[in-house]
Parts: sequence; C-alpha cells; structure tokens
Amino acid sequence: MTKRAIRVAVIGAGMAGRAHAAGYRSLKSLYGDAVPDVKAVAVADANRPLAEDLAGKFGFERVETSWEAVAEADDIDAVSVVLPNGEHRAVVEALASRGKAILCEKPTARTAAEAMAMEAAVDRAGVIANVAFTHRFAPPVAAVKHLVDQGRLGAPRQLMSRYLSDGGRDADVPFSWRHDLAQAGGGSLVDLGAHNVEAARFMLGEVRAIRGAVLSIRVPERHPALGATRGHEKAALSDETRPVTTDDEAMFLAEFENGCIGSFATSRVATGFKNASGFVLVGSEASASFDWERLLEFGWADGSADHYTEGWTRVLLGAQHPYLAEGLVMPVAGVGFGLGDAFIFQAADFVTAVASDTPSRIASSFADGTANTLVLDAVKRSAAAGGAAVLIADERSRAAAELAAEGGA
Ligand SMILES: NC(=O)c1ccc[n+]([C@@H]2O[C@H](COP(=O)([O-])OP(=O)(O)OC[C@H]3O[C@@H](n4cnc5c(N)ncnc54)[C@H](O)[C@@H]3O)[C@@H](O)[C@H]2O)c1
Repeated sequence: MTKRAIRVAVIGAGMAGRAHAAGYRSLKSLYGDAVPDVKAVAVADANRPLAEDLAGKFGFERVETSWEAVAEADDIDAVSVVLPNGEHRAVVEALASRGKAILCEKPTARTAAEAMAMEAAVDRAGVIANVAFTHRFAPPVAAVKHLVDQGRLGAPRQLMSRYLSDGGRDADVPFSWRHDLAQAGGGSLVDLGAHNVEAARFMLGEVRAIRGAVLSIRVPERHPALGATRGHEKAALSDETRPVTTDDEAMFLAEFENGCIGSFATSRVATGFKNASGFVLVGSEASASFDWERLLEFGWADGSADHYTEGWTRVLLGAQHPYLAEGLVMPVAGVGFGLGDAFIFQAADFVTAVASDTPSRIASSFADGTANTLVLDAVKRSAAAGGAAVLIADERSRAAAELAAEGGA
C-alpha cells in the first residue's frame, strides 16, 4: 500500500455530498493505520455557497465551482461524484481519462446504455472505480449475505423488499432534478429502488426477468424553489409549476437466476415512513429480515428450532460482524450505529482500494452498476407494456445496440 496520502475531492455538495465528505474525514480516526492517510483537497459545486459550507465544515482545502476544475487538477487522486444522475456520465468519463479513481453515486446513470459507456470508460482507463451502493456497507445486509453464502438459509426462495420514504409526500417539497425524467432517469424506482435491487443482487446474484411493474405519480406538478435546495429540503417556492415526470411509487416482481422470486415496492410519498428500506428473505432452512431504520440488528428465524425457540430472533450486531471490528467507536454488540457509519465504511474501502491499486471485494463495480441499471430499465419497460415480462438478457442486448448506434464503446 502506498505511504502517500490519498488526495480526495467531492463533486456535489448536496444531501449525499455531505455524507461523502464526512466519510473521508472520519475514516482515519476509526481505522487508524489500517487505512491510508487521506488529504481532503477540494469540494466542487456549481453553487459556491454550498461548496464553501461543506468544505468549511469538513476541512477541505479549497472550493471549486466546476467539476472540470477537479478533473483537471494534478493534486487530486480520488473523487466522489455526487451529482444529479444525468451529470454522472460526462464527469466519470472525464475523470477516468485523467486517471482519477472514482466513487460514483448510484444509480450509475439514467439508462443502462449510459451505464455501459461509463463501465467501458473506467475499464479502458484501468482506474479504481466503485459505485456508491451504500447498502452493501450496511452490516446487517453483509451479515445476511454471509449467511446466504454459507448455505445457512438453505435455498433462497422468496424476497419481499421495500424502500418507503415520505421525503416527497408534501406537495410543497420543491420541484428538483429528481422530478424530471430527463435529469434523473426515474423517481423512487431509481432513487430508492436501485439500493434494494443492489442489496438483492449482493445477496442473491443476478436477476433473470422482471414482470408486473407498475409506476405511479401522486403529486403531478410542483413549484421550483426560489433558491438552492439539497435533497428534499423545503424552501420558498416560485409561483410557476412544473410537471413531475418521474414515479412517486413503483412495484414490480423479479425472478433471480438462482430460482428465488422477489417483490419490490418503493415510494417517496409513503405517509409515516422515513428511511424504511428493508426486506424479508425466506429460505428453505431459515429466513432473515432487515430494516434500515433498525441498523444495529437483523431478524433470524431458524426452521429447525423447536417449539420453545421457534419464531423470529433479534440478532444484535457487534464487532464480530462485517465492517464493525474497527468501525465502532465502542466495539460492543447493541451500541448502535447509523447511515453515516456506512458512508465511513464505504469511504475506507474506497481509499484502501486506491492506495493498494486493488479493486474492492465489497463495493459495487461499474459492471454491477450496469447490471443494476439493466434491472431498472427492465422495470420501466415492463411498466410501459402493462406489466409484461422483460428478460434482462434482452435488455442488455437493447442497451448495447443503443450504445453502438450512438457510436460508443
Ligand atoms: N448512496 C446514498 O445513500 C445516496 C443518498 C442520496 C443521494 N444519492 C445520490 O447522490 C446523487 C446526488 O443526490 P443529492 O441528494 O445529493 O442531490 P442534491 O440535489 O442534494 O445535490 C446535488 C448537488 O449537485 C450540484 N450540481 C448539479 N449539477 C452540477 C454541475 N453540473 N456541476 C457542479 N455541481 C452541480 C447542485 O448544486 C447540488 O448542490 C444522486 O445520484 C443520488 O442518487 C445517494
């Protein structure tokens, strides 16, 4: 591993940019000598006050107002791309061509064709390149994957996966890039559902087909904010209205190549739900459940239990579980941790990969990003065709043809 500090930048100082900046600043204090030194060089955002605020809070040396300034800088090795989905491709391609390591936010892109072009660009450049599917760094998700891999669930049979939030429930949440299909590529499906699809792929492997997809829009128009906003923040609104062209809710069924069947539900307008991502995974020998709002535990039901112990057991996670040995401020089961910790685990994994020039064995690659986006495209296609079945293999051929027609990779 190189002794030199990894010089990092964050492009995008919005809701998720803050979590990336915090991850880079915190990893050394938790992991010590197990991770490389990190130098926090730059935060870039088209909105200078947002970039200044983030750089100031987390001790980054300078502020840029264009992503190009980061791509061209000689004093930056590794970059988090935390921009609206439609901006990812141009930035990733430019960073790759300049030899920068990349941690790109999810979904990789608006469409699988775009994601394929990005995958080809990072492969050509040979840079360390991850997609920030942070749920892979949720210790309970990794623990359940470990149990699946060990055969402790037997054959995975049925997955019920959901990601429900009320972030966009109120009609006075301003219109943003998230509500515009051209900029986002989708709504709750790509914003929230992409995480659950990736957690499912992480635990169960590839999806074979999608069917029964339905998308809905519950708040058909919104007012833009008068000033800048992050995430779903409320703000003073303009009188103008814009049509919402991305889904507020999505539901679909999936068949996995390993024979498991799954149902997925996502919503950004779900009354009473905040960050309720989770699943129940039923296996032939045992079942597991997880709820992101209870991040320090998962549920376990052992089919061989007798009448005195049958039913669900609450497993409390401690230092022996994935990422937690050095990642807890107090290495004791049940002390708790949160979303911010998953971003620290993710950042530590990324800079370690960069320093050793060895791809991560945990994080999603850009090939994973393409596979994930193929599933999202299949859901959109199924919904447009009244719920018809869509094979992922066909979706891959269509995306490759679209990219070839563009004259791409
Ligand atoms: N991994 C996670 O858990 C997670 C959570 C939230 C968001 N995200 C992802 O992070 C990305 C950003 O989402 P967000 O919620 O932070 O968005 P946001 O709207 O809060 O912030 C986006 C920022 O990008 C800036 N920006 C837009 N275009 C720019 C450009 N061309 N050059 C420079 N700056 C530009 C905006 O000024 C804004 O500050 C999305 O891809 C989203 O899917 C991931």
